Amino acid sequence: MQTSTTSKLLVSDIASSVDRVPSSYIRQISDRPNISDVDISGDSIPLIDLQELHGPSRANIIHQFAHACSSYSFFQIKNHGVPEKTIERMMTVAREFFHQPESERVKHYSADTKKTTRLSTSFNVGSEKVSNWRDFLRLHCLPIEDFINEWPSHPVSFREITAEYATSVRALVLILLEAISESLGLEKDRVSNTLGKHGQHMALNYYPPCPQPDLTFGLPGHKDPNLITVLLQDEVSGLQVFKDGKWIAVHPIPNTFIVNMGDQMQVISNDKYKSVLHRAVVNSDKERISIPTFYCPSFDAVVGPQQELLINEEEDSPAIYRSFTYGEYYEKFWDRALATESCIDSFKISKT
Ligand code: OGA
Ligand code: NI
Repeated sequence: MQTSTTSKLLVSDIASSVDRVPSSYIRQISDRPNISDVDISGDSIPLIDLQELHGPSRANIIHQFAHACSSYSFFQIKNHGVPEKTIERMMTVAREFFHQPESERVKHYSADTKKTTRLSTSFNVGSEKVSNWRDFLRLHCLPIEDFINEWPSHPVSFREITAEYATSVRALVLILLEAISESLGLEKDRVSNTLGKHGQHMALNYYPPCPQPDLTFGLPGHKDPNLITVLLQDEVSGLQVFKDGKWIAVHPIPNTFIVNMGDQMQVISNDKYKSVLHRAVVNSDKERISIPTFYCPSFDAVVGPQQELLINEEEDSPAIYRSFTYGEYYEKFWDRALATESCIDSFKISKT
Protein backbone atom coordinates (compact mmCIF):
# COMPACT_ATOMS: atom_id res chain seq x y z
CA MET A 1 0.00 0.00 0.00
CA GLN A 2 1.39 3.41 -0.91
CA THR A 3 0.04 6.23 1.20
CA SER A 4 1.01 9.84 0.82
CA THR A 5 3.46 10.64 3.59
CA THR A 6 3.92 14.30 2.78
CA SER A 7 0.81 15.48 4.61
CA LYS A 8 1.77 13.74 7.85
CA LEU A 9 3.27 15.78 10.67
CA LEU A 10 4.44 12.88 12.80
CA VAL A 11 6.59 9.88 11.94
CA SER A 12 4.25 7.63 13.96
CA ASP A 13 1.63 8.24 11.29
CA ILE A 14 4.03 7.42 8.48
CA ALA A 15 5.71 4.38 10.02
CA SER A 16 2.81 1.97 9.81
CA SER A 17 2.08 2.60 6.14
CA VAL A 18 5.53 2.40 4.54
CA ASP A 19 7.76 -0.56 3.81
CA ARG A 20 10.72 1.69 3.04
CA VAL A 21 12.11 4.69 4.83
CA PRO A 22 11.11 7.89 2.99
CA SER A 23 14.10 9.65 1.44
CA SER A 24 13.97 12.57 3.89
CA TYR A 25 15.03 10.14 6.67
CA ILE A 26 17.92 8.51 4.82
CA ARG A 27 21.41 9.45 6.00
CA GLN A 28 24.60 9.50 4.00
CA ILE A 29 26.49 6.22 4.13
CA SER A 30 29.21 7.67 6.39
CA ASP A 31 26.56 8.80 8.88
CA ARG A 32 24.56 5.63 9.51
CA PRO A 33 24.24 3.43 12.64
CA ASN A 34 26.64 0.78 11.25
CA ILE A 35 25.81 -1.99 13.72
CA SER A 36 29.08 -3.82 13.09
CA ASP A 37 30.92 -0.93 14.79
CA VAL A 38 28.86 -1.13 17.97
CA ASP A 39 29.85 -2.97 21.14
CA ILE A 40 26.70 -4.85 22.12
CA SER A 41 28.30 -7.07 24.75
CA GLY A 42 26.31 -5.56 27.64
CA ASP A 43 27.59 -4.66 31.16
CA SER A 44 29.22 -1.60 29.73
CA ILE A 45 28.60 1.34 32.03
CA PRO A 46 28.84 1.52 35.83
CA LEU A 47 25.84 0.60 37.98
CA ILE A 48 25.65 2.51 41.26
CA ASP A 49 23.47 1.28 44.10
CA LEU A 50 22.06 4.30 45.93
CA GLN A 51 20.92 2.21 48.89
CA GLU A 52 24.12 2.92 50.81
CA LEU A 53 24.27 6.63 50.06
CA HIS A 54 22.82 7.63 53.41
CA GLY A 55 24.64 5.04 55.49
CA PRO A 56 28.19 4.46 56.70
CA SER A 57 29.42 3.62 53.17
CA ARG A 58 28.58 7.06 51.79
CA ALA A 59 32.25 7.86 51.12
CA ASN A 60 32.58 4.71 49.04
CA ILE A 61 29.49 5.58 46.98
CA ILE A 62 30.74 9.14 46.46
CA HIS A 63 33.95 7.61 45.18
CA GLN A 64 31.92 5.54 42.72
CA PHE A 65 30.25 8.74 41.53
CA ALA A 66 33.63 10.40 41.00
CA HIS A 67 34.82 7.46 38.95
CA ALA A 68 31.61 7.09 36.94
CA CYS A 69 31.35 10.82 36.21
CA SER A 70 34.98 11.35 35.27
CA SER A 71 35.58 8.25 33.16
CA TYR A 72 32.16 7.53 31.64
CA SER A 73 29.85 10.50 32.28
CA PHE A 74 27.18 7.82 31.99
CA PHE A 75 25.98 5.41 34.65
CA GLN A 76 22.98 3.44 35.82
CA ILE A 77 21.42 3.70 39.26
CA LYS A 78 19.37 1.27 41.28
CA ASN A 79 17.56 1.62 44.62
CA HIS A 80 16.93 5.19 43.54
CA GLY A 81 13.79 5.79 45.58
CA VAL A 82 11.36 6.43 42.72
CA PRO A 83 8.55 3.93 43.39
CA GLU A 84 8.17 1.10 40.89
CA LYS A 85 4.48 1.91 40.60
CA THR A 86 5.21 5.53 39.68
CA ILE A 87 7.58 4.38 36.94
CA GLU A 88 5.14 1.83 35.61
CA ARG A 89 2.26 4.32 35.53
CA MET A 90 4.43 6.89 33.75
CA MET A 91 5.51 4.44 31.08
CA THR A 92 1.95 3.22 30.57
CA VAL A 93 0.46 6.69 30.22
CA ALA A 94 3.23 7.69 27.81
CA ARG A 95 2.42 4.67 25.65
CA GLU A 96 -1.28 5.49 25.81
CA PHE A 97 -0.56 9.06 24.78
CA PHE A 98 1.26 7.99 21.61
CA HIS A 99 -1.33 5.32 20.82
CA GLN A 100 -4.13 7.89 20.66
CA PRO A 101 -5.59 8.74 17.27
CA GLU A 102 -3.62 11.19 15.14
CA SER A 103 -6.38 13.81 15.53
CA GLU A 104 -5.92 13.81 19.31
CA ARG A 105 -2.12 13.89 19.23
CA VAL A 106 -1.70 16.63 16.64
CA LYS A 107 -3.60 19.10 18.85
CA HIS A 108 -0.31 19.45 20.72
CA TYR A 109 1.91 19.72 17.64
CA SER A 110 4.24 22.69 17.33
CA ALA A 111 7.56 23.33 15.61
CA ASP A 112 8.18 26.37 17.85
CA THR A 113 11.12 25.40 20.06
CA LYS A 114 10.19 28.14 22.56
CA LYS A 115 6.89 26.56 23.51
CA THR A 116 6.96 25.01 26.97
CA THR A 117 4.63 22.14 26.06
CA ARG A 118 4.68 20.69 22.57
CA LEU A 119 4.56 17.58 20.50
CA SER A 120 6.98 17.45 17.63
CA THR A 121 9.03 15.09 15.54
CA SER A 122 12.67 14.44 14.64
CA PHE A 123 14.74 17.01 16.56
CA ASN A 124 14.26 20.49 15.16
CA VAL A 125 12.20 20.40 11.97
CA GLY A 126 13.02 24.08 11.40
CA SER A 127 16.78 23.64 11.13
CA GLU A 128 17.70 20.09 10.13
CA LYS A 129 18.28 18.56 6.71
CA VAL A 130 17.65 14.88 7.46
CA SER A 131 14.77 13.82 9.69
CA ASN A 132 14.97 11.41 12.62
CA TRP A 133 12.66 8.48 13.30
CA ARG A 134 11.22 9.91 16.50
CA ASP A 135 8.22 11.79 17.80
CA PHE A 136 8.44 13.53 21.15
CA LEU A 137 6.32 15.37 23.64
CA ARG A 138 8.30 17.96 25.56
CA LEU A 139 7.09 19.36 28.85
CA HIS A 140 8.41 21.90 31.29
CA CYS A 141 7.72 20.72 34.81
CA LEU A 142 9.20 23.03 37.43
CA PRO A 143 7.32 24.45 39.18
CA ILE A 144 4.59 22.03 38.18
CA GLU A 145 1.73 24.45 38.85
CA ASP A 146 3.10 26.88 36.23
CA PHE A 147 2.86 24.28 33.47
CA ILE A 148 0.43 21.50 34.34
CA ASN A 149 -2.53 23.24 32.74
CA GLU A 150 -0.71 23.21 29.39
CA TRP A 151 -0.03 19.48 29.52
CA PRO A 152 -2.24 17.10 27.54
CA SER A 153 -5.54 16.35 29.28
CA HIS A 154 -5.84 13.03 27.43
CA PRO A 155 -5.32 10.30 28.52
CA VAL A 156 -7.34 11.64 31.47
CA SER A 157 -4.79 10.53 34.03
CA PHE A 158 -1.88 12.09 32.10
CA ARG A 159 -1.43 15.20 34.25
CA GLU A 160 -1.72 13.45 37.58
CA ILE A 161 0.67 10.64 36.69
CA THR A 162 3.21 12.91 35.04
CA ALA A 163 3.15 15.32 38.00
CA GLU A 164 3.72 12.46 40.42
CA TYR A 165 6.58 11.13 38.30
CA ALA A 166 8.21 14.56 37.85
CA THR A 167 8.04 15.26 41.60
CA SER A 168 9.58 11.92 42.45
CA VAL A 169 12.38 12.24 39.88
CA ARG A 170 13.15 15.76 41.09
CA ALA A 171 13.68 14.46 44.62
CA LEU A 172 16.08 11.88 43.18
CA VAL A 173 17.94 14.51 41.15
CA LEU A 174 18.50 16.65 44.24
CA ILE A 175 20.11 13.65 45.95
CA LEU A 176 22.27 12.99 42.88
CA LEU A 177 23.37 16.63 42.74
CA GLU A 178 24.57 16.48 46.34
CA ALA A 179 26.53 13.32 45.65
CA ILE A 180 28.02 14.75 42.46
CA SER A 181 28.92 18.01 44.18
CA GLU A 182 30.70 16.09 46.94
CA SER A 183 32.42 13.88 44.40
CA LEU A 184 33.92 17.04 42.88
CA GLY A 185 35.23 18.03 46.32
CA LEU A 186 32.64 20.82 46.67
CA GLU A 187 30.12 21.52 49.42
CA LYS A 188 27.16 19.26 48.78
CA ASP A 189 24.76 22.11 47.97
CA ARG A 190 27.17 23.91 45.65
CA VAL A 191 26.00 22.52 42.30
CA SER A 192 22.38 23.00 43.30
CA ASN A 193 23.11 26.59 44.34
CA THR A 194 24.45 27.48 40.90
CA LEU A 195 21.15 26.66 39.22
CA GLY A 196 19.11 29.71 40.23
CA LYS A 197 15.51 28.64 40.69
CA HIS A 198 16.28 25.33 38.90
CA GLY A 199 14.59 24.03 35.76
CA GLN A 200 13.19 20.61 34.91
CA HIS A 201 12.03 19.52 31.49
CA MET A 202 10.86 16.11 30.34
CA ALA A 203 10.61 14.46 26.98
CA LEU A 204 8.45 11.50 26.13
CA ASN A 205 10.27 9.98 23.17
CA TYR A 206 8.40 7.64 20.88
CA TYR A 207 10.34 5.64 18.31
CA PRO A 208 7.99 3.66 16.04
CA PRO A 209 9.23 0.47 14.38
CA CYS A 210 11.26 1.38 11.31
CA PRO A 211 11.33 -0.70 8.13
CA GLN A 212 15.03 0.10 7.42
CA PRO A 213 16.68 0.91 10.75
CA ASP A 214 20.18 0.83 9.26
CA LEU A 215 19.49 3.94 7.15
CA THR A 216 18.37 6.37 9.83
CA PHE A 217 18.49 7.29 13.52
CA GLY A 218 15.94 7.72 16.26
CA LEU A 219 18.30 10.42 17.49
CA PRO A 220 21.74 10.95 15.96
CA GLY A 221 24.82 11.45 18.17
CA HIS A 222 24.42 14.49 20.42
CA LYS A 223 25.26 15.89 23.83
CA ASP A 224 22.52 17.11 26.15
CA PRO A 225 22.59 20.88 26.75
CA ASN A 226 21.28 20.68 30.33
CA LEU A 227 23.07 19.80 33.60
CA ILE A 228 22.13 16.18 34.17
CA THR A 229 19.73 13.78 32.45
CA VAL A 230 17.87 10.95 34.18
CA LEU A 231 16.55 8.57 31.56
CA LEU A 232 13.80 6.03 31.96
CA GLN A 233 13.50 3.56 29.10
CA ASP A 234 11.24 0.62 28.36
CA GLU A 235 12.61 -2.90 27.76
CA VAL A 236 13.62 -2.27 24.14
CA SER A 237 17.30 -1.49 23.46
CA GLY A 238 18.29 1.50 21.38
CA LEU A 239 20.47 3.81 23.46
CA GLN A 240 24.19 3.93 22.62
CA VAL A 241 27.01 5.84 24.31
CA PHE A 242 30.31 6.89 22.76
CA LYS A 243 33.29 5.82 24.84
CA ASP A 244 36.96 5.51 23.87
CA GLY A 245 36.24 5.96 20.19
CA LYS A 246 33.47 3.37 20.08
CA TRP A 247 29.69 3.20 20.36
CA ILE A 248 28.44 1.02 23.21
CA ALA A 249 24.87 -0.28 23.41
CA VAL A 250 23.22 0.24 26.80
CA HIS A 251 20.74 -2.54 27.41
CA PRO A 252 17.81 -1.67 29.66
CA ILE A 253 17.75 -3.10 33.20
CA PRO A 254 14.29 -2.98 34.80
CA ASN A 255 13.85 -0.40 37.56
CA THR A 256 17.09 1.40 36.91
CA PHE A 257 17.64 4.85 35.48
CA ILE A 258 20.43 5.92 33.20
CA VAL A 259 22.13 9.11 34.31
CA ASN A 260 24.30 11.22 32.05
CA MET A 261 26.15 14.51 32.38
CA GLY A 262 25.13 17.39 30.14
CA ASP A 263 26.94 20.50 28.93
CA GLN A 264 26.25 22.56 32.08
CA MET A 265 27.97 19.95 34.25
CA GLN A 266 30.99 20.16 31.97
CA VAL A 267 31.09 23.94 32.36
CA ILE A 268 30.50 24.01 36.13
CA SER A 269 33.18 21.34 36.70
CA ASN A 270 35.56 23.02 34.24
CA ASP A 271 35.86 19.83 32.16
CA LYS A 272 36.29 17.42 35.10
CA TYR A 273 32.96 15.82 34.21
CA LYS A 274 32.36 15.82 30.48
CA SER A 275 29.09 15.98 28.62
CA VAL A 276 28.92 12.76 26.67
CA LEU A 277 27.97 11.84 23.12
CA HIS A 278 25.03 9.45 22.86
CA ARG A 279 22.40 8.45 20.31
CA ALA A 280 19.33 6.27 19.83
CA VAL A 281 18.91 3.71 17.07
CA VAL A 282 15.60 2.20 15.97
CA ASN A 283 14.62 -1.33 15.04
CA SER A 284 12.24 -2.99 12.63
CA ASP A 285 9.86 -4.81 14.93
CA LYS A 286 9.31 -2.97 18.19
CA GLU A 287 8.29 0.52 19.15
CA ARG A 288 10.46 2.04 21.86
CA ILE A 289 9.68 4.64 24.49
CA SER A 290 12.19 6.58 26.54
CA ILE A 291 11.48 9.34 29.03
CA PRO A 292 14.43 11.61 29.81
CA THR A 293 14.22 14.19 32.59
CA PHE A 294 16.48 17.10 31.73
CA TYR A 295 17.47 18.91 34.90
CA CYS A 296 18.92 22.35 34.26
CA PRO A 297 19.57 25.84 35.63
CA SER A 298 16.69 28.31 35.38
CA PHE A 299 17.07 30.50 32.30
CA ASP A 300 18.23 33.52 34.34
CA ALA A 301 20.89 31.57 36.26
CA VAL A 302 24.49 32.52 35.51
CA VAL A 303 26.57 29.41 34.87
CA GLY A 304 30.36 29.20 34.89
CA PRO A 305 33.26 27.09 36.18
CA GLN A 306 33.34 26.87 39.99
CA GLN A 307 36.19 28.83 41.55
CA GLU A 308 37.49 26.00 43.80
CA LEU A 309 37.99 23.77 40.79
CA LEU A 310 40.30 26.25 39.09
CA ILE A 311 43.11 25.76 41.54
CA ASN A 312 44.83 22.47 42.13
CA GLU A 313 47.88 21.71 44.19
CA GLU A 314 50.54 21.80 41.51
CA GLU A 315 49.28 24.40 39.12
CA ASP A 316 46.47 26.73 38.31
CA SER A 317 43.94 25.32 35.93
CA PRO A 318 42.38 28.37 34.36
CA ALA A 319 38.69 28.65 33.55
CA ILE A 320 37.95 27.04 30.21
CA TYR A 321 34.54 28.68 29.81
CA ARG A 322 33.18 32.17 30.20
CA SER A 323 30.07 32.65 32.31
CA PHE A 324 26.71 32.93 30.60
CA THR A 325 23.03 32.65 31.41
CA TYR A 326 21.41 29.32 30.73
CA GLY A 327 18.83 31.16 28.63
CA GLU A 328 21.60 32.26 26.26
CA TYR A 329 22.97 28.72 26.02
CA TYR A 330 19.61 27.11 25.51
CA GLU A 331 18.68 29.41 22.67
CA LYS A 332 21.93 28.63 20.89
CA PHE A 333 21.34 24.91 21.35
CA TRP A 334 17.96 24.93 19.65
CA ASP A 335 19.08 27.27 16.89
CA ARG A 336 21.29 24.65 15.36
CA ALA A 337 20.38 21.30 13.99
CA LEU A 338 21.29 18.54 16.41
CA ALA A 339 24.97 18.20 15.68
CA THR A 340 27.77 16.05 16.94
CA GLU A 341 29.79 19.14 17.84
CA SER A 342 28.42 20.51 21.04
CA CYS A 343 27.57 24.21 21.22
CA ILE A 344 29.73 24.34 24.35
CA ASP A 345 32.74 25.28 22.22
CA SER A 346 31.35 28.71 21.48
CA PHE A 347 31.50 29.49 25.22
CA LYS A 348 35.18 28.63 25.54
CA ILE A 349 37.61 31.37 26.50
CA SER A 350 40.06 31.69 23.65
CA LYS A 351 43.70 31.15 24.62
CA THR A 352 45.16 33.89 22.45
C1 OGA B 1 17.49 12.49 24.45
C2 OGA B 1 18.15 11.17 24.36
C3 OGA B 1 18.01 8.76 24.34
C4 OGA B 1 17.01 7.69 24.23
O1 OGA B 1 16.24 12.53 24.39
O2 OGA B 1 18.22 13.49 24.57
O3 OGA B 1 19.33 11.13 24.31
O4 OGA B 1 17.36 6.54 24.50
N1 OGA B 1 17.40 10.06 24.35
O5 OGA B 1 15.87 7.96 23.83
NI1 NI C 1 20.21 13.02 24.82
